[in-house]
Amino acid sequence: MGISCLDIFPGRGVMRDSDFKARGKVRKRILSVIFLLPAWFSPHSKLRVIFHRLRGVKIGKNVEFRYFCIIGNVHPYLITIEDEAVVTAGSVLLEHDNAHYYAHGGEVNFGPVVVKKRSFVGIHSVIMPNVTIGERAIVATNSVVADDVPPDTVVGGIPARVMKSLDQGNEIIKY
Ligand SMILES: CC(C)(COP(=O)(O)OP(=O)(O)OC[C@H]1O[C@@H](n2cnc3c(N)ncnc32)[C@H](O)[C@@H]1OP(=O)(O)O)[C@@H](O)C(=O)NCCC(=O)NCCS
Repeated sequence: MGISCLDIFPGRGVMRDSDFKARGKVRKRILSVIFLLPAWFSPHSKLRVIFHRLRGVKIGKNVEFRYFCIIGNVHPYLITIEDEAVVTAGSVLLEHDNAHYYAHGGEVNFGPVVVKKRSFVGIHSVIMPNVTIGERAIVATNSVVADDVPPDTVVGGIPARVMKSLDQGNEIIKY
């Protein structure tokens, strides 16, 4: 699709909330909140895609979102979903992590999530900031993905590990 969050935020690492305010993102945050409920619960995937786009998520062609996908709730423009990818029900694509901020006043970490072409995110999975899901990869149900997923692999578990490698025709070639 040719769009990458890394075009906006070159390199990966720690970003502060003030960095985003300085970039004039407040209006985008309001739009993101207004369209949250229809993006979660509209009765057709195409509608959910439209509302996630209106929120600022970068979405390619023929992408499917199932119900209640939490996609970059604070900074949706940090999330990129490429053509024909599928994100299934209850999955969470996290573009920020404020655990250290709330627990002991540390920094909030921000980072892009990229779901590449034809990949599949299984039900109730969590994708952490700064993670790319490779082309045609599968994330097993209920996984927590904290590292990049190579293309043509199946990953699963908490934290997610490679379970299988696949060729481009989806035939299993290795366990
Ligand atoms: C990951 C997945 C594709 C694997 O399917 P598969 O290729 O047919 O592989 P298998 O079912 O033979 O499982 C292979 C191994 O992975 C394990 N496994 C399967 N799903 C797992 C999961 N979610 N987490 C951890 N391990 C899992 C199996 O127990 C098996 O382990 P073993 O080799 O020790 O017996 C499938 O389990 C899955 O999660 N699909 C996504 C379903 C989904 O979210 N659908 C959305 C609604 S359409």
